[in-house]
Amino acid sequence: MAVWEELQATVDALVDGRRGILAADESSGTIAKRFNTIGVESTEQSRRDYRAALLEAKGLGDFISGVILFEETLGQCSANGKLLAQVAANQKVVPGIKVDKGKGPLAGAAGDMITYGLDGLAERLREYKKQGARFAKWREVYPVSPHNPTELGLQANAEMLARYAAVCQAEGVVPIVEPEVLMDGDHSIERCAEVNEQVWHTVFHALYRHGVTLELMLLKPSMVIPGAQSARAEPQQVAEYTLRSLRRSVPAAVPSINFLSGGQGNEEASANLNALNKINNAPWQLSFSYGRALQQPALAAWAGRSENIAKAQGALLKRARLNHLAMLGQYCSSLERES
Ligand code: 13P
Repeated sequence: MAVWEELQATVDALVDGRRGILAADESSGTIAKRFNTIGVESTEQSRRDYRAALLEAKGLGDFISGVILFEETLGQCSANGKLLAQVAANQKVVPGIKVDKGKGPLAGAAGDMITYGLDGLAERLREYKKQGARFAKWREVYPVSPHNPTELGLQANAEMLARYAAVCQAEGVVPIVEPEVLMDGDHSIERCAEVNEQVWHTVFHALYRHGVTLELMLLKPSMVIPGAQSARAEPQQVAEYTLRSLRRSVPAAVPSINFLSGGQGNEEASANLNALNKINNAPWQLSFSYGRALQQPALAAWAGRSENIAKAQGALLKRARLNHLAMLGQYCSSLERES
């Protein structure tokens, strides 16, 4: 199979108009923080047990087309000896892998961040592919302040995303390009729109310069919402601002936009996605690639106990189904009360 055919087959498996992506790729530090909230120690086994429970939820593939895994998970087997990537694939959920190596301050641009991990990326991708990964994710992070992101921050982060995406496509791995504009702060929805437009414009210029084929990648952006320390906006307003900014800066060739949840509440993330899809005049599929907004209730229900696995799986399936309905514009908050 030619590389582009391989990439196209993966895009087709991920993008079908009714399913989204489960982000289960928390780094060791982040998953330890999440486990801490339920009083569970993060060990190789507890991480495996939790993530195996998510992937084994019966019917997950009805609502979820892909799962982003952390490197450790890709090599792990479930308690009954099945590779977790294979457990996902058997559910018609395409396994993917987070390939960035975390972030730190960007020297020369106070307040901005930069992500690490380009060295040796092609070799790592070849190994991940052998283990079953068909797509990858790389996240750049943009804090919002009166001075951030700086012009240097915009350019440097876009360059990283484009170099990563070009290497992925050369290796036959579909890149998810994730420029995350952080929710932290008391900025307005207008300021969030302004920053997201700057970010997306810069990222798509860099993708073009690096020869990335837009039809064979996915975008994972933040929604345009007010900062976490500002009053929440109504879903209709979020949808209008988000679509206006996306239309101004994201080419129609991109097949799918899979939003991150970024600290939005579970119901908020579903209601906003629903409002986006109700407007329904976008050239791209509008879907989700949620981490917290899919996993939070499942994590709380599990609480580290094997006897709670069925309850945790039920909680995950509920959020997955409600976000699938939001993709169809059929979500409504009264569905939250049903089991
Ligand atoms: P959240 O939906 O919790 O923001 O996670 C998505 C993700 O993959 C962040 O990189």
